[in-house]
Amino acid sequence: MIDSYALLHMAKIKNVLVVCLGNICRSPMGEGILRDAIESAYLHVEVDSAGTQGYHAGEAPDPRAIRCMKEHGIDISQQSARKLMAADFEQFDLILTMDQQNFINAQNVAPNAILRQKVKPFLSSLPNAETQEVPDPYYGSRSDFEKVYELCSQAAQAWCKEWK
Ligand code: 4NP
Repeated sequence: MIDSYALLHMAKIKNVLVVCLGNICRSPMGEGILRDAIESAYLHVEVDSAGTQGYHAGEAPDPRAIRCMKEHGIDISQQSARKLMAADFEQFDLILTMDQQNFINAQNVAPNAILRQKVKPFLSSLPNAETQEVPDPYYGSRSDFEKVYELCSQAAQAWCKEWK
C-alpha cells in the first residue's frame, strides 16, 4: 500500500521554498540561484524564500548578497523578506533549509508530521559534499557570500537533475 510518506516523495515538484534565518542573505541568494538553474534546465518549478525569524520582514536582501549575485549575473534586488508560516507547508512541495538550526526551526513550524517531511537541507542534493550546511555570511566578509554562491550553485544544478 502507498502511504502518504511515499506519495510525498513520488509527487512531481511544482514549487520550492528556500529557508534561512533572516531571509536577507542565504535564502534570497538560494532563491535566485535555484530559479536561474531551473530556467536554464527548461523546468517549470516556482521558487520563493522565507526566514525562520521575521526580524527583517519587508526588507530587500542584504546589499552584500545583492552585489555578490549581481557579479554572477542574477538580480535579486526586488525580493522582500518574510517569515516562514505554517501555511507554507500546504503550499510548497519542498522546503529547503540552509543549516541545521534552520532545519530544526522549519520542522517546528510544520502543521503535522507528514508535512514536516517536506523539509530537507538545500545541500542534500549533494550527498557526498563535505558539508551539509551553508554557513551564515551575515557577520562575515565578501568571501563568505561567495562561498554561499558556490555551494548553492552546485546544489541547485543537482536539484534540477533530480527534477528532470
Ligand atoms: P540569513 O543571514 O539567515 O542568511 O538571512 C542572517 C540575516 C540576519 C541575521 C542573521 C543571519 N540577524 O541576526 O539579523
